[in-house]
Amino acid sequence: MSLDERAARWRADLESWAIPDEILASAPANPWTHRVARLARRTDVLLASPQGPTYGRAREALPDGGSVLDVGAGTGAASLPLRPPTLVAVDENRAMLEELARRGRESGCGTIRLVEGRWPDAADRTPVADVVVCAHVVFNVPDLVPFLAALDGHARRRVVLELPLVHPTSWLNPFWVRFHGLTRPDRPTSDDVLAIAREMGFAAECEEHVAPDAPFESVEEMASSACLRLCLDPARAPEVARAAEEMGVWPFPPRKFVTIWWDSTE
Ligand SMILES: C[S@@+](CC[C@H](N)C(=O)[O-])C[C@H]1O[C@@H](n2cnc3c(N)ncnc32)[C@H](O)[C@@H]1O
Repeated sequence: MSLDERAARWRADLESWAIPDEILASAPANPWTHRVARLARRTDVLLASPQGPTYGRAREALPDGGSVLDVGAGTGAASLPLRPPTLVAVDENRAMLEELARRGRESGCGTIRLVEGRWPDAADRTPVADVVVCAHVVFNVPDLVPFLAALDGHARRRVVLELPLVHPTSWLNPFWVRFHGLTRPDRPTSDDVLAIAREMGFAAECEEHVAPDAPFESVEEMASSACLRLCLDPARAPEVARAAEEMGVWPFPPRKFVTIWWDSTE
């Protein structure tokens, strides 16, 4: 399959995750919202105990006094544990960047520069860095080729991606069937990202690993998040919690992530 065909299939596969209009119309809140507090928890786990191949592959490529660019940085889970002397964080969500900056100051990072905007649109106002990290973003990116090209173009040494093996909302698939009678897709996967990166000429390698934290601390927190994503009234959280237990979905098995990295072609 050519790069163009792979890129087109990636886009079509992601589009197949769109929520049908009639369900979206009844949503009490935007079902795609990221919760700052949930991302901050993983950042804190990794700040307290830096670990895993995403950290390791970025760390080994970072020179003394070097710089890190974190794209779709959220609260900084992929970059703050590196405690880089210079960090540039790009995110389209201002609240995430503010939380990252606060944690960065408290955890002894050096200079932190925030770039509010969407990648790759924000690339031309973002400086290059020794290491570029981008964790848990690509399943949000329909046009993957220009996105990855801009990451590579901003890395002096290495690009490190982290992503789940399948779409990050796949855990909700049984709930979609139960509450909306809707079967969700099983594509794209992390293998597609790897294939596209290699087809683009990057010598990309990959390693699977288990997530360092559980996504939710309680069944109540999981049910609240499920209501948001499923476009259900938050008052239905107890019903969602009961369904999760009946379907054997809760408690969750450990999540699998993959780290994909390559040395910059610059
Ligand atoms: C699931 S969070 C992951 C955050 C962080 N990298 C982590 O691993 O915890 C995805 C983040 O990427 C941001 N984001 C998604 N697409 C983006 C894009 N094209 N450009 C910039 N930020 C983006 C979102 O606002 C959100 O903060």
